[in-house]
Amino acid sequence: MSKTVGIGITGGIAVYKIAELLSRLKKDDIDVIVMMTESATKFVAPLTFRTLSGREVLTDLWQESQEWKVQHIGVAEALDLLVIAPATANFIAKMAHGIADDLLSTVVLANTAPVLVAPAMNSNMYKNAVVQDNIKKLRAYGCRIMEPDTGILACGSSGPGRLPEVGDIYEEIKRLLFTKKDLLGKRLMVNAGTTCEDIDPVRFICNRGTGKMGYCIAQEAVNRGADVLLVTGRSHLEPPKDVKVFNVWGAEEMCEVMLKYQPACDIIIGAAAVGDFKIAQVAEQKIKKQDDRSEILVVELVGTPDILKEMGKNKVPNQILVGFAAETQNLIENAQKKLKTKNLDFIVANDITMEGAGFASDTNIVSLIERSGEIKSLPKMSKQDVAMAIIDKVAELLKKN
Ligand code: C5P
Repeated sequence: MSKTVGIGITGGIAVYKIAELLSRLKKDDIDVIVMMTESATKFVAPLTFRTLSGREVLTDLWQESQEWKVQHIGVAEALDLLVIAPATANFIAKMAHGIADDLLSTVVLANTAPVLVAPAMNSNMYKNAVVQDNIKKLRAYGCRIMEPDTGILACGSSGPGRLPEVGDIYEEIKRLLFTKKDLLGKRLMVNAGTTCEDIDPVRFICNRGTGKMGYCIAQEAVNRGADVLLVTGRSHLEPPKDVKVFNVWGAEEMCEVMLKYQPACDIIIGAAAVGDFKIAQVAEQKIKKQDDRSEILVVELVGTPDILKEMGKNKVPNQILVGFAAETQNLIENAQKKLKTKNLDFIVANDITMEGAGFASDTNIVSLIERSGEIKSLPKMSKQDVAMAIIDKVAELLKKN
């Protein structure tokens, strides 16, 4: 059955590039409904898109429609995918805050199909904390946000903010439209974030884990049809929709929850930054600071359970177990050792000393190492794309089972 894509065009110089995108989609027999904001129409006349799409271009909330009784609702219901490209800072802000004051923003709110956003703007605007916060919000609401390209911008400055290559947007649209539901009927459990260990009723120790990688995995697994359990330690992120969330505090609690659900899972991925130590004796009362500030306070630490290792011991037949190895030296060698001792099917190794890899970063540079010894090294990519590669590998192993 033919697919219908809505392309929402907002007002930036990159509007003209959408003509090429539209023509490529039409060649694939994809039905495209073009919607433009008023400012977008100042850059390229709607006639261009009307000619290429073979449909009326929608610009006005109050426009009479032959096709739909209530235009913005009818359009939203017809869509298999909504693409916003180019997405201006203003329109991203409107999306992040649910503002619906024109045709396109109203369709965005009424839409229930997946959303792809391709930002394009001046790099200072793109880097602005408000814009970044809004982009984060959209990600948390489940939108797929493409990274803008870096280069010379129309305003003469250089930096991130160029509309991603039309070919890349096209590929992404095709991927989202035809995403395989290859995890349908499978239950996947992933842990994420950092575990915390109490020192006293006020203080605790934790680590640099943010939950980004694990939350991206949960999102990707849901997209591919899995029933997902997210066991999360401390993280400030909004969990993806349609995921069953267990909030936990310490490593022991995380381990208990995961062991309980392990027998019911087909796939388990350990993306959490689990603390290796806890406080031997948690103080019942807040520890008072000493007047003599040179005095050394000794806190004894003991080991926490290695959750993945425990799960490796209790592995159910055909269950796929995946871990991470964040290393600062001898990456492959150390990762291979962990793969064996934890009885994993594959391990995702990353050298956290590299720029653009590891904790808190939005990108990661990883290698997927299998039991057979096969190593697949991936270039620097967004954590969403890394999640995709991990789930691809899981799907490949499921097929072999
Ligand atoms: O041994 P190391 O901590 O480097 O292994 C990292 C992998 O093991 C990660 O997947 C992490 O989630 C998991 N892990 C665990 N329990 C621990 C420590 C790490 O499950 N106590």
